[in-house]
Amino acid sequence: GPCAVVIVAAGSGQRLGHGIPKARVPLGGEPMLAHAIRGVVKAGIATQICIAVPQDDAAMVEICHQLAAESGAGPDMVWNVVDGGTDRSDSVRAALAVIDSGVGTVLVHDAARPLTPSGVFDRVVAALRDGAKAVIPALAVADTIKTVTPAELPATGAGVEKVSGTPVRHLLRAVQTPQGFELDTLRRAHAYALTLDAAAAAQITDDAMLVEAIGEDVYVVQGSTHSLKITTPMDLLLGEAMLQGPLR
Ligand code: C5P
Repeated sequence: GPCAVVIVAAGSGQRLGHGIPKARVPLGGEPMLAHAIRGVVKAGIATQICIAVPQDDAAMVEICHQLAAESGAGPDMVWNVVDGGTDRSDSVRAALAVIDSGVGTVLVHDAARPLTPSGVFDRVVAALRDGAKAVIPALAVADTIKTVTPAELPATGAGVEKVSGTPVRHLLRAVQTPQGFELDTLRRAHAYALTLDAAAAAQITDDAMLVEAIGEDVYVVQGSTHSLKITTPMDLLLGEAMLQGPLR
């Protein structure tokens, strides 16, 4: 059935240090957002593509229009560009406001994951078709992950952190996008988000968290190492290398 894809591209990208929004940072000579949009079109699953961009970023809007023009998608494809918000979830809500109600499912994808292979989109959509109301792509983690709490070194009182726990590694997953949802479930999750206070809202890092909070099951499918989130200059270097040739 009809499926909308939201691409969130309204982040500032401060950690990348380019002084421009991350989605406009070039990768292989083209803005990251161009790769992200092309990946969604190539996956062939979208009937509507809605992109959340930073407010008043005419260059970002132009990228969207160019990709829509080159996509070869027919007149049946709905394209929207909306102003994003302060937090990622504000940007998702701005996009949700223009999603066609006739759409049964919606995927939310980070522009910061420009190299996500079609197979990941396929697996997410397949799980939705098989009855999941929420599904996320994820990978097992290689590092041991610890939780920490503020602490002071015994002799000096120097401010550091100390370990508060070690979750069992084989139960941990590193979560990616696109995350897929039944439209009504994602709408309810984001209505719930609006009831949170600022401190709780600041802790929301993905859409699935909100769906978990309203008590719906979130299913997991296999992600991809190619779907890395480009956050640091090192990630950008890896992305460039991936575009150079086959990296398995
Ligand atoms: O900041 P973070 O790396 O978690 O952002 C993930 C994705 O969410 C990026 O694609 C970014 O552009 C998007 N985002 C957004 N609006 C915000 C913050 C982040 O669309 N206010």
